[in-house]
Amino acid sequence: MAESHMQAIVIAAFGGPEVLELRDLPQPEPGPGELRIRVAACGVNPVDWKLRAGWLSAAMSHTLPLVPGCDLAGSVEATGEGVDPAWLGREVVAFLDLAHPGAYAQQAVAPLARVVERPARLEAAEAAALPTPGLTAMQLVRSHGRLASGHRLLVTGAAGAVGSLALQIAAEVPDAALFALVRESARQRLPKLPGLTVISDMQAAALADMDLVIDCVGGEVLARAPDWVARGGALISVVMPPDEARCQERAVRAGFVMVEHDSAQLAELVQACAHERWRLPVKRCLPLAEAAAAHRAGESGEAQGKMVLLA
Ligand SMILES: NC(=O)c1ccc[n+]([C@@H]2O[C@H](COP(=O)([O-])OP(=O)(O)OC[C@H]3O[C@@H](n4cnc5c(N)ncnc54)[C@H](OP(=O)(O)O)[C@@H]3O)[C@@H](O)[C@H]2O)c1
Repeated sequence: MAESHMQAIVIAAFGGPEVLELRDLPQPEPGPGELRIRVAACGVNPVDWKLRAGWLSAAMSHTLPLVPGCDLAGSVEATGEGVDPAWLGREVVAFLDLAHPGAYAQQAVAPLARVVERPARLEAAEAAALPTPGLTAMQLVRSHGRLASGHRLLVTGAAGAVGSLALQIAAEVPDAALFALVRESARQRLPKLPGLTVISDMQAAALADMDLVIDCVGGEVLARAPDWVARGGALISVVMPPDEARCQERAVRAGFVMVEHDSAQLAELVQACAHERWRLPVKRCLPLAEAAAAHRAGESGEAQGKMVLLA
């Protein structure tokens, strides 16, 4: 029987956006415990261009050529051994392991454990935008940040995908005081939350005595952040490790964390967004073939919102 093919975006060598090539590849076959998904949409995340540029090579070994992308929505078209065929035809959302990505494609394989059903009221593009930023935000606020009632929380890069979801999740903690650090140009993209204090000047006096700072920016912002945390508070970044010595001096718990898969959290995330309890607006949908343009827009900062590729 002739081999079936699909189109996918491939990284054959690490480099700039120009290395992203649309190619014909054999359709992936699901192994035991896996599903093959006909991809409708895949989310574009900053980690995708970090992977493409080769910045993750020290942390994990990827074999090239590689199809990037961890977040997708689509319908199940084949099941591997041990997977209930009742999954066939279901609309799903998947969060692929960064060590085994493959979402920038017309078809992708995912372990059943990393797949949840997509509620009909959530569009495929909206759903594909969610897994990486949503799980990251949930874990930042809850397990890593341990945000509790009465705490003061500052989120940097608060208008971004992770930051805006973190604020919405934090807003459910009773009596938490929420502060958003954003560039002036991003102010209008913040979630509308009652009582949110918006700061766009890193010298602002309000930047003090935080119980928790969640950093989604890194660099100069993260370098200043230890000064904004109260003694005994926490500074958690998803971009790079905070200055451990500075944090120790100030008795601040410092952490750099990576998102982990959690199927209960993925299910809660898609339900919460389907019912508009939390929102992550999709700014731009582009065809899969325009992955390089999406990376250029994301890396340059001109994207100004969440991007999704349509397969
Ligand atoms: N460790 C992990 O597991 C993990 C998981 C998810 C994400 N991340 C990382 O977290 C970061 C945020 O991800 P994301 O998906 O939220 O990206 P995003 O949607 O692009 O958001 C980033 C936000 O940071 C803002 N920003 C960038 N530079 C800034 C600066 N110098 N000062 C103030 N704000 C600045 C951007 O503002 P503008 O909108 O004005 O450009 C944007 O709102 C990325 O570095 C990503 O790789 C890590």
